[in-house]
Amino acid sequence: MPRLGMLDVSRQGFGCMGLSHSYGRADDAESIRTIQHAIDRGVTLIDTANVYGGGHNEELVGRAIAGRRDAIVLASKFGIVPEGTQGDRRVNNAIDYLRTELEGSLRRLNVDQIDLYYVHRIDPEVPIEETVGELARQKQAGKIGAIGLSEASAETLRRAAAIHRIAALQSELSLWTREVETEILSTARDLGVGFVAYSPLGRGFLAGGAPEEADDRRHQHPRFQAEALAANARRRDTIERVADELGVSIAQVSLAWVLSKGVIPIPGTRHIAHLDANLAANTIVLDASTIARLEAAFPVGSTVGERYPARALASVR
Ligand SMILES: NC(=O)c1ccc[n+]([C@@H]2O[C@H](COP(=O)([O-])OP(=O)(O)OC[C@H]3O[C@@H](n4cnc5c(N)ncnc54)[C@H](OP(=O)(O)O)[C@@H]3O)[C@@H](O)[C@H]2O)c1
Repeated sequence: MPRLGMLDVSRQGFGCMGLSHSYGRADDAESIRTIQHAIDRGVTLIDTANVYGGGHNEELVGRAIAGRRDAIVLASKFGIVPEGTQGDRRVNNAIDYLRTELEGSLRRLNVDQIDLYYVHRIDPEVPIEETVGELARQKQAGKIGAIGLSEASAETLRRAAAIHRIAALQSELSLWTREVETEILSTARDLGVGFVAYSPLGRGFLAGGAPEEADDRRHQHPRFQAEALAANARRRDTIERVADELGVSIAQVSLAWVLSKGVIPIPGTRHIAHLDANLAANTIVLDASTIARLEAAFPVGSTVGERYPARALASVR
């Protein structure tokens, strides 16, 4: 069974962000059924954050996991502060803020402990040693079970791991976002830090999707602007050809590629049928020549358009 530090987890986790915002409207009752279906299907890693839907997502997850706490590894995050209505945000890792946000997450999730608590973005104003030191104290107090970082550099990860065991690094990894393969994946491996791949379906692009509703966050993403989409879609043809040859969907090929890296993807979906399809990717083994074909279509750094709007991009570099 895959491990994140001392935590045993399923091969894929379930990312809950899209059940509150980002990729079109979701229905709470259906979202709860989808999370519960994931647990029924053996998915144990359930991923949320304080900032998703301004607390809505954690409350939703809290309702979905009620009575099933022992069946899951519950992950949440702190460190991003939303500002205004246009998706702007700033990063805050201040100790007081951490303590307040952790209490808020425990309350919304209706649990005594969060199994894996991530620093969502690294605050350049707060040394990572201080943040991890405080998280270690919260772990000792029993409020969190393990410490994770999200979008940390290799250097930050090394500094953090020198203070306390880091169970997981969660960063973006998919066929069109491969930059962590250059240094970060191997650093995590060397330090014994598990890697959780977020947006493994490229926010839907690598599953064949595109934004439809006006308030979809992807409209603000450079990669989803018309010109970039058209250029990137040409590369996606290779995934489509592989999917046809294997008799599977392009979402499944995209996920099977992420799984081939020995990491734990946490795809998100509002639909039980998509969840089942994604889990079926666990049994797809891509051979070396297929992996090479896919990687040749998506060389590291070649995707047209940045992966975040400018302000958000600044906090992931
Ligand atoms: N640490 C971080 O900074 C960070 C950042 C972003 C995300 N995350 C985490 O990672 C999780 C996953 O990332 P994500 O939600 O951004 O992107 P994703 O999993 O790459 O893609 C989600 C999109 O793919 C679609 N989709 C999923 N399965 C599909 C299928 N089988 N066929 C067709 N379409 C499918 C979904 O639409 P439908 O709902 O219509 O299926 C949704 O639009 C999030 O929920 C969150 O927990 C973390």
